[in-house]
Amino acid sequence: MILVTGATGTVGRLLIDQLLVAGERVRAVTREPARAQLPHGVDVVGVDRTDPASTADAMRGVDRVFLLTSGPGIPEYDTAFAQAAADAGVARVVKLSSGRAGDATATDPIPAWHRAGEAAVRAAGVPWTMVRPLGFMSNALHWAGTIREQGTVYAAFGQGRIAVVDPRDIAAVAAAALTTEGHEGQIYTLSGPQPLTPGEQTAILAEVLDRPLRYVEVTPAQARHALLEHGVPAELADAIMALRADALEAFTSVVHPTIERVTGRAPRTFAEWAAAHASDFRADTAVAGTVRS
Ligand SMILES: NC(=O)c1ccc[n+]([C@@H]2O[C@H](COP(=O)([O-])OP(=O)(O)OC[C@H]3O[C@@H](n4cnc5c(N)ncnc54)[C@H](OP(=O)(O)O)[C@@H]3O)[C@@H](O)[C@H]2O)c1
Repeated sequence: MILVTGATGTVGRLLIDQLLVAGERVRAVTREPARAQLPHGVDVVGVDRTDPASTADAMRGVDRVFLLTSGPGIPEYDTAFAQAAADAGVARVVKLSSGRAGDATATDPIPAWHRAGEAAVRAAGVPWTMVRPLGFMSNALHWAGTIREQGTVYAAFGQGRIAVVDPRDIAAVAAAALTTEGHEGQIYTLSGPQPLTPGEQTAILAEVLDRPLRYVEVTPAQARHALLEHGVPAELADAIMALRADALEAFTSVVHPTIERVTGRAPRTFAEWAAAHASDFRADTAVAGTVRS
C-alpha cells in the first residue's frame, strides 16, 4: 500500500492516477475526505498534518510513502511523517522537494524549508528518494483569469528563464521511484525541455489558444498581491516572491535529462501542457475554481 500525501493537489492527484494504472493499492491523505473526489478504489483517509497522531494512524499497513508538504511547516511536517514512516517500518519514502534546494547559493525560505525536510527524512533512517522539480508549468494557471477576461498575462521577472516542468512528468518520476527498483538515495532534479520567460510562455499560450495575448511585466509587489488574491497565505506568497527574486537564471534555465532517464519518456513541452489545459484559459469553457500555488 502506497500512502500519497498532498493527494488532492496538483502532483499528488496525477500520481494517484498513475499508481492505479500500475495496479498499486493507494491510500490518499486529505483533510476533507468527503470533498476529495478521488477515484474509486482509493482508500481515502482524513488526516491533518498539523496533528501528529493522525499522521501516525495513516501509516498503518503502508509500505511506501509519497511525502508532499508545503509552506513554512515543511520541516515540522516532514519530520513527523518521516518518523511515523520509520516507526511503521515503511520501506521507501519519496519526498517532493524543490529544485532550488540544490542551489547552494539559495538562502531564501522555500529551499531552506525543503532542505530541512530532506534532512529530517534522511535522519529518520528510511530509504529515500528526493524529487526536486524546478517551477511547475501549472503555475501559469494563475494567469487564467486575466487571459480569459483581458487577453493579458501580468507577471514579474520578465527576463528570467525557467525550464518549467509538467506536473504529470513529476508524478511519473515519483511513480517510478515508488514502484521500481534502483532509486534509493537518488536526488532527481527535474526540468522541462526548454527554459522560458513569462513572455515566451504567453506567446506559446497565444498560439495554442489561437488568440492574441499580451504580456505585461508587473512589479514584484503587484505579483505578490495577485498571489494573495488567489488565496496563497501571506508568508508563502512572500517566500514565493523571494524565491523568484533570488533565483539565478543560470540555475533555473538548466535543462536536466532526468525525466527521460527515469521514465524513458521525453519531458512534455509547455505547448503540450497548454494544449491539455486549454479549457482553463478559454472564457466559454472555464469552470470556476481555486488555483493552487
Ligand atoms: N509550484 C512550483 O513551481 C513548485 C516548484 C518546486 C517545488 N514545489 C513544491 O511542490 C509542493 C506543492 O505541490 P502541489 O502544487 O502539488 O500541491 P498543492 O496543489 O498546493 O496541494 C497541496 C496539498 O496539500 C494538502 N494539504 C494542505 N494542508 C494540509 C494539512 N494541514 N494536512 C494535510 N494535507 C494538507 C492539500 O490537501 P487537502 O486540501 O485535500 O487537505 C493538497 O492536497 C510544495 O512542497 C512546493 O514547495 C512547487
